[in-house]
Amino acid sequence: MTIQKTADLIRQSERICILTGAGISSESGIPTFRDKQTGLWENHRAEDLANINAFHRDPKFVWGWYQWRRGQVADKRPNPAHHALADLEKWALENSKTFTLITQNVDDLHEQAGSTATHLHGHLWRNKCSECGQAYEGELDYADDALLTCPNCGGWVRPDIVWFGENLPKDAWVLAEQASSQCDVFMSIGTSSLVYPAAGLSQLAKQCGATIVEVNPNPTQSPHIDVMIEEKAGVALPEIINAL
Ligand code: OAD
Repeated sequence: MTIQKTADLIRQSERICILTGAGISSESGIPTFRDKQTGLWENHRAEDLANINAFHRDPKFVWGWYQWRRGQVADKRPNPAHHALADLEKWALENSKTFTLITQNVDDLHEQAGSTATHLHGHLWRNKCSECGQAYEGELDYADDALLTCPNCGGWVRPDIVWFGENLPKDAWVLAEQASSQCDVFMSIGTSSLVYPAAGLSQLAKQCGATIVEVNPNPTQSPHIDVMIEEKAGVALPEIINAL
């Protein structure tokens, strides 16, 4: 019922906006951040890892953790949810609809599935200097956790990921706000909607008149959700595409 309703909503919309979070990659074997037992922040305090002060305090520990994480993610592949969103993008193009996929994820599984995604929280596979900000393009062996230095200024190289307390990439955020405020249907998929400003996008979309759909086996209970699909993304999204 909610599947068909969502397919109908998508068909009737001119502008479709999707926001994904860690939950969409969980069926590919990448742990989420906040799920009990399996969440990444269950074993590590986010404040000790994902902020620039932690990096300044102990760069080797933080760099080593991200190298470990790269090792975990390297062999992971898109699941049916990523493929369904790539199919939806193609369908939208064929049907002259505007389609925007925004992700909080730093993995590249959307791209591997063939989607074009706007990354709000950066990229796990990219690096930059922690001092001058210059992109670091050198080869990287994620089995090696030795610190690297910037060829430009000698600063430590860090992952190009948005850490707590840092601004989101400006272009990505402008695009996300624009797409959210202009869409007819907004789908929030696999996110706990706890981390702002990304979590505010569905509220923005709602205020601007969009219908809000959530796909999450553990609903967030956000009051502005219109259609709740209490199901794994890898199950629900292919069903929605089939019902289009
Ligand atoms: P969370 O770990 O906070 O939330 C993941 C959500 O996915 C939860 O609500 C789960 O119920 C849901 N979920 C789990 N399996 C699912 C499945 N198969 N299908 C659909 N949903 C599923 O992850 P995010 O909301 O993405 O920031 O976290 C936001 C940000 O916090 C991340 O981008 C990261 C983190 O700190 C940075 O790295 C900068």
